[in-house]
Amino acid sequence: MVYTAQYLAMAAAMLPNAVLAQNNQTYANYSSQSQPDLYPQTLATLNLSFPDCVNGPLKDNIVCDTSANYVDRAEGLIALFTLEELINNTQNSGPGVPRLGLPPYQVWSEGLHGLDRANFAKSGDEWTWATSFPMPILSMAALNRTLINQIAGIIATQARAFNNVGRYGLDAYAPNINGFRSPLWGRGQETPGEDANFLSSSYAYEYITGLQGGVDPDHLKIAATAKHFAGYDLENWGGNSRLGFDASITQQDLAEYYTPQFLAASRYAKARSFMCSYNSVNGVPSCSSSFLLQTLLRENWDFPEYGYVSSDCDAVYNVFNPHGYASNQSAAAADSLKAGTDIDCGQTYPWHLNQSFIEGSVTRGEIERSIIRLYSNLVKLGYFDGDKSEYRQLGWNDVVTTDAWNISYEAAVEGIVLLKNDGVLPLAKKVKSIALIGPWANATEQLQGNYFGTAPYLITPLQGASDAGYKVNYALGTNISGNTTEGFADAVKAAKNSDVVVYLGGIDNTIEAEGTDRLNVTWPGNQLDLIQKLSQTGKPLVVLQMGGGQVDSSSIKSNSKVNALVWGGYPGQSGGKAIFDILSGKRAPAGRLVSTQYPAEYATQFPATNMNLRPDGASNPGQTYKWYTGTPVYDFGYGLFYTTFKETAQKLGSSSFDISEIISSPRSPSYEYSELVPFVNVTATIKNTGKTASPYTAMLFANTTNAGPAPYPNKWLVGYDRLASIEPGKSVDLVIPVPIGAIARVDENGNRIVYPGDYQLALNVDRSVVWDIKLTGDAVTIENWPLDEQEIQPDPN
Ligand SMILES: *[C@@H]1O[C@H](CO)[C@@H](O)[C@H](O)[C@H]1NC(C)=O
Ligand SMILES: *[C@@H]1O[C@H](CO)[C@@H](O)[C@H](O)[C@H]1NC(C)=O
Ligand SMILES: *[C@@H]1O[C@H](CO)[C@@H](O)[C@H](O)[C@H]1NC(C)=O
Ligand SMILES: *[C@@H]1O[C@H](CO)[C@@H](O)[C@H](O)[C@H]1NC(C)=O
Ligand SMILES: *[C@@H]1O[C@H](CO)[C@@H](O)[C@H](O)[C@H]1NC(C)=O
Ligand SMILES: *[C@@H]1O[C@H](CO)[C@@H](O)[C@H](O)[C@H]1NC(C)=O
Ligand SMILES: *[C@@H]1O[C@H](CO)[C@@H](O)[C@H](O)[C@H]1NC(C)=O
Ligand SMILES: *[C@@H]1O[C@H](CO)[C@@H](O)[C@H](O)[C@H]1NC(C)=O
Ligand SMILES: *[C@@H]1O[C@H](CO)[C@@H](O)[C@H](O)[C@H]1NC(C)=O
Ligand SMILES: *[C@@H]1O[C@H](CO)[C@@H](O)[C@H](O)[C@H]1NC(C)=O
Ligand SMILES: *[C@@H]1O[C@H](CO)[C@@H](O)[C@H](O)[C@H]1NC(C)=O
Ligand SMILES: *[C@@H]1O[C@H](CO)[C@@H](O)[C@H](O)[C@H]1NC(C)=O
Repeated sequence: MVYTAQYLAMAAAMLPNAVLAQNNQTYANYSSQSQPDLYPQTLATLNLSFPDCVNGPLKDNIVCDTSANYVDRAEGLIALFTLEELINNTQNSGPGVPRLGLPPYQVWSEGLHGLDRANFAKSGDEWTWATSFPMPILSMAALNRTLINQIAGIIATQARAFNNVGRYGLDAYAPNINGFRSPLWGRGQETPGEDANFLSSSYAYEYITGLQGGVDPDHLKIAATAKHFAGYDLENWGGNSRLGFDASITQQDLAEYYTPQFLAASRYAKARSFMCSYNSVNGVPSCSSSFLLQTLLRENWDFPEYGYVSSDCDAVYNVFNPHGYASNQSAAAADSLKAGTDIDCGQTYPWHLNQSFIEGSVTRGEIERSIIRLYSNLVKLGYFDGDKSEYRQLGWNDVVTTDAWNISYEAAVEGIVLLKNDGVLPLAKKVKSIALIGPWANATEQLQGNYFGTAPYLITPLQGASDAGYKVNYALGTNISGNTTEGFADAVKAAKNSDVVVYLGGIDNTIEAEGTDRLNVTWPGNQLDLIQKLSQTGKPLVVLQMGGGQVDSSSIKSNSKVNALVWGGYPGQSGGKAIFDILSGKRAPAGRLVSTQYPAEYATQFPATNMNLRPDGASNPGQTYKWYTGTPVYDFGYGLFYTTFKETAQKLGSSSFDISEIISSPRSPSYEYSELVPFVNVTATIKNTGKTASPYTAMLFANTTNAGPAPYPNKWLVGYDRLASIEPGKSVDLVIPVPIGAIARVDENGNRIVYPGDYQLALNVDRSVVWDIKLTGDAVTIENWPLDEQEIQPDPN
């Protein structure tokens, strides 16, 4: 019998509350507490080393035979494990098998924007730091695919160097590709923004292939983990803890918004690992959902056969408390294992699967399957291949060398977005002194956002300003959430003594964080009061809005005495230098917002737990730029330059396309998947008509009002690109290929369909160039969405 999501939600709701209590005095209510209490074993830093395939006990086992198939090698190893050894290694902090000379292995390393959970040396010349890149939300704003791939590639090189000396694992729990749907989400900063279909998918592809060393290479560099699958984009909004939140999502939104980036991570980028999320989707916790982990991932999305799924940390336990989907920990373990969660980042598997086995709810074969998957990856990562294998020669010098490439600085410079400028920027040569004010003016670790390790250095904005040659008059003015005006007088005094005032504030991880959502998108504390005061000093005023989530800057936008507004995200180790190279005009900005800046009322007019993207005619005005019916303060895709560009469309060869012809036409060998084949390349000539050399970035949007069923989105992203610096007076052709899959829409059942009708393709928010196209013939389904039901039964109790 097959259990539907609805049936399971009902069954879970009927469980008596008593079973949720933990059997000890420190009961935690994870329905409201958003941070799991992890056991020390889960958090442990293990002493990592490689198995000895030359002299160790395994030397004659097939796992040490580099000429054998990687799965045969893993199976040969796992066949030697006793049941207890198998169970002990189902956790992130695997003890290995001492009697076989198999060392402990830590599955949990982090690599969101640099190494984290690396065992950094506390002193000495080596292994004390790794490159700290900007947070992903800022790097994505550069609209440069190569940059994302290069960042991940450097992280992987540094990771392998650290791994060679036992200081980091071979798997990284990155990237975070959930859509930044609600602007209140505390971890939106970790993502590539709110366009979950196109931007997040391309980010996932570049980041995963960068980490792994290509698309499905024989020798993996680092195994990437696409997280958090699925429907995870809130921490604790309105008391709804992520650990117990049940996201109610229509099949249409699930297919259109909450999962396409995961399809891309699996099918195109061949991520070796997925992480299931804390929350439930339609009544079923992600880690015990065979619809997510089996039907979608393995049967529909071509997940590598021996890829593995890890739980978010303690999410298997959460299947019991607070979800109540299982009535005890052994049942939670069994349900999750059978649904397809291979590794528990937590202690529920290692401590309770023995009980599940006794209860007859899991077999040795099911546990073996998980460990074979994990070790197949380790084989592919060269764990058993000795010192001569690929990446095993990487050492500290490679960390130093790749850091010296300065790509962290480059990413910050490329990502920074200019939102308002009356001509004050770039700062005139005659500007000698700057009043540097605000809670970000002397930022150090703030620059790094979250999930960061030790950086080689942190260039504060204060340092950046003085290195750029300015005389700096520094004043804190106020804290992020400050409510005292004590510092205002000093700030105003500094302003009056300077040629220009630069205010750096906004939000940071005291406001948006893991475990913490915002309740509003207003500037916190009394920062706007201080900005208002500074704007009355008569000095030119530049405001830097920092942080990952947007805040409503409409009062800054409309105040003519604030001369410029810049969004700087979390710019990483070279943030201060990047900011001042932009302000001084050494580098020209070309980033574009990858999340909408909503007006303040948006955040309080409907609950963030409402997962429906489309406007409902009542309180939900539609979510993301694709559906929002209100007027943003700054649009998704907004960004100014220091120069002016004139864009001219080149005429299309043909503007009418027969759908079935496109889809059935023989594909070029470089495309394995027909939905990725471009059916049209649009070309625009981009002329720099101003006086300043500048890179150029573009987003290409599609819209329609008659193709497929109503309601129609405002528009949706189908392409983007970045051009290198264009000199004044010069022109460059921008070519954006549009894959047929990008033009498809999703029907109510979740099927992805290319519909006939009239479309426009328009460049950027201002639609400076528009191409009319027509798709003809019958609608063609390019991706079937399977029925949302649990094909693997949980324990019926
Ligand atoms: C009770 O459970 C909590 C959460 O799992 C755990 O941290 C704590 O160690 C447990 N206490 C005892 C006495 O077992
Ligand atoms: C746990 O928290 C939820 C959400 O805040 C609340 O509804 C529930 O009553 C709490 N349960 C207990 C046992 O305190
Ligand atoms: C770590 O493991 C290595 C190799 O097995 C060993 O030589 C070293 O003593 C261990 N260090 C610690 C702190 O356990
Ligand atoms: C499994 O782990 C438990 C708890 O850490 C430990 O006591 C036991 O010795 C381990 N068993 C084996 C066979 O490694
Ligand atoms: C299962 O293993 C855990 C941890 O090693 C142990 O505490 C527990 O007693 C075992 N349960 C059974 C039923 O053997
Ligand atoms: C800026 O921060 C650094 C590092 O925390 C500190 O040493 C320095 O004193 C600060 N500068 C000012 C002017 O407060
Ligand atoms: C001002 O902030 C302090 C410290 O954050 C806090 O204790 C106090 O309650 C706040 N006062 C008001 C009026 O909000
Ligand atoms: C906005 O939310 C913060 C908490 O995130 C709260 O401290 C602040 O008072 C709120 N501001 C407004 C204007 O509601
Ligand atoms: C689009 O451009 C690419 C790269 O130049 C080319 O391979 C492809 O054939 C073009 N496709 C179309 C439909 O023009
Ligand atoms: C696309 O949107 C623009 C601007 O809203 C609108 O004028 C145009 O009619 C739309 N095009 C189509 C094909 O629906
Ligand atoms: C994109 O990033 C790459 C890698 O960092 C860099 O070499 C290239 O110059 C960037 N492209 C543009 C157009 O800025
Ligand atoms: C756990 O729950 C399952 C399903 O309700 C039940 O069969 C089993 O006996 C329970 N085990 C324990 C140790 O309570």
